[in-house]
Amino acid sequence: MKRACVIGWPIEHSRSPAIHGYWLDRYKIDGSYTKRAVPPEEIETFLGALAAEGLAGCNVTIPHKEAAFRKSDEREASAVAVGAAITLWLDDAGRLCAANTDTYGYMTYLADQAEDWSRRDAPVSILGAGGAARAIVYGFLEAGVGEVRVFNRSLARAEALAKDFGLRVKVLPWDQRSRASTEAAVLVNTTSVGLKGAGTLDIDFTDFHPDCIVSDIVYVPLETALIREARRHGLRTVDGLGMLLHQAVPGFERWFGVRPEVTDELYDRIAADIEAA
Ligand code: ATR
Repeated sequence: MKRACVIGWPIEHSRSPAIHGYWLDRYKIDGSYTKRAVPPEEIETFLGALAAEGLAGCNVTIPHKEAAFRKSDEREASAVAVGAAITLWLDDAGRLCAANTDTYGYMTYLADQAEDWSRRDAPVSILGAGGAARAIVYGFLEAGVGEVRVFNRSLARAEALAKDFGLRVKVLPWDQRSRASTEAAVLVNTTSVGLKGAGTLDIDFTDFHPDCIVSDIVYVPLETALIREARRHGLRTVDGLGMLLHQAVPGFERWFGVRPEVTDELYDRIAADIEAA
């Protein structure tokens, strides 16, 4: 039996077991995917013992993403760009391999929901400069976007991000996030603002280009205030749940040998779970 899990501290609220459990059932795989609470002082030992524990790999969440990256032997470009790993697997030689599948999850769902997002030669606006922002900035740069504008409450953190990613990334003051985004092809919220209804980003969509796509990586609630406001202005929107589902695909394939599909049924099942919580 093949086994994988998600590790974090705490871990109770992870939805990954429901996602991977759905696919294990759907593809009738003899495997398991569980949650493991791993305290920070045990992360090194835990990762060193993956093979001994019979695990093919794991997903990693807060606060272990950076430690997992440091501990890995092989790193995909996405993990290097972010400095953090969220999907780990052992290769045939027993080496620990790391990817940051947020990049894949975000870009795949964006293309799925709005395949023409890059049609206009326009900048992309990113709100936030944390780990999720890095994964998404990297995705847009890889996709060939000419200018990525980063807005962050603390300017220094945005400047540090821009320094790592080069001249196509421009830092703008947080208070210009509406005004300097009117021509944007895509505007993405990568901050935690709006999570469980807390806080508001105060974006004024009035003068936005009608083809701008507004996306939010927050998925609790499914329709955040940002998404609702963008829709009210007639803009197309992309929610955060699809990114979560798509980022799970590469790990499942590595551990269980089947490339799983993000079906409407899976989306509806996890959406219902979020709404019931
Ligand atoms: P993640 O790894 O999920 O990106 P993170 O590294 O903690 O999480 O980053 C959180 C992001 O949300 C940061 O950009 C943070 O802004 P600061 O760098 O200024 O802290 C942003 N953020 C959190 N709360 C915010 C708020 N109330 N207003 C604006 N930005 C906020």
